[in-house]
Amino acid sequence: KIPVIIDTDPGIDDAMMLTYACASEELDILLVTTAAGNISQDKTNYNARAFLSYIGANVEVAQGLDKPILRELEVAEDIHGESGLGNVDLPAPTLPCSERPAIQAMVETLLASPVPVTIVATGPLTNIAALLLAHPEVKSKIKVISWMGGSAVGGNMSPTAEFNAYVDPHAVEIVFRSGLPIVMSGLDVTHKAYVTVEETQRIAAIGTDFSDKVVKMLTFYLGVMKRTPFHAENYDSTIRFHDLCAVAYVLSPELFEGQDCYVEVSLDGVTAGTTVVDYMGASGKTPNVKVLHSVKREAFVEQFMQAVEVISTR
Ligand code: BDR
Ligand code: CA
Repeated sequence: KIPVIIDTDPGIDDAMMLTYACASEELDILLVTTAAGNISQDKTNYNARAFLSYIGANVEVAQGLDKPILRELEVAEDIHGESGLGNVDLPAPTLPCSERPAIQAMVETLLASPVPVTIVATGPLTNIAALLLAHPEVKSKIKVISWMGGSAVGGNMSPTAEFNAYVDPHAVEIVFRSGLPIVMSGLDVTHKAYVTVEETQRIAAIGTDFSDKVVKMLTFYLGVMKRTPFHAENYDSTIRFHDLCAVAYVLSPELFEGQDCYVEVSLDGVTAGTTVVDYMGASGKTPNVKVLHSVKREAFVEQFMQAVEVISTR
């Protein structure tokens, strides 16, 4: 099994990512930590515990930092709704909030692991940056950081910045300069990782309370997604599964294509949070990030469908 720590800010696509991760027999989820991002820390932590409880996952959920490293938190209520999970009501969580704060829980989990652990991060990188700054001794216990965030193809939060990078660019800077292997699932690839409305009908046909909730969340998400030039022709009928890519890459790297690039993040001004991706090696600098740009969409969607079925029948 692949040991992972998941840092997330649910978030509708975060919840879909958790579905996919928890359905997999190949992942050993050691810990889930919550990031402030789509919504405040209190709510992302509550949502993570409520969603994981609802799908029957038994995992420690630890509370991360409330605020980005330097900037004030900007949330995405317009995209994920006031609760953070669209218009879906979940039962109150049965999973408690861990007594260990996220950074402590990550350090202790990493140090206790006999083998290096994969970190999957699907929100702003605040917790991961704080971990690396405060505890550089854990670096040798991290195999790779698979992050959903960044973009070379334009932004969804500012004209050039993707949301997770925009919310905490200083955290991106710290993580990208850590020397650790990093895989970036930015908008370059996540805009190609979509499900169509017709495909969601397959989920609806499963006919369980869980599949109904998934369809409800996805329908809410579809209604608020921003237009992109890449999907002009099918924009109204596709739902981009950003966060899923970060975990799908860990489980099935053969579904993706990417390139090792030098990437630097802009920290302020009109380009704050922009990941400047040197696809053509123009800077002459050594690549520090594997930037994913393509996905075998149908196979990726198939895996998600199977995950929904697995959770539905649990
Ligand atoms: C990212 O921003 C968030 O709103 C999503 O959960 C995803 O992590 C996409 O830009
Ligand atoms: Ca997210």
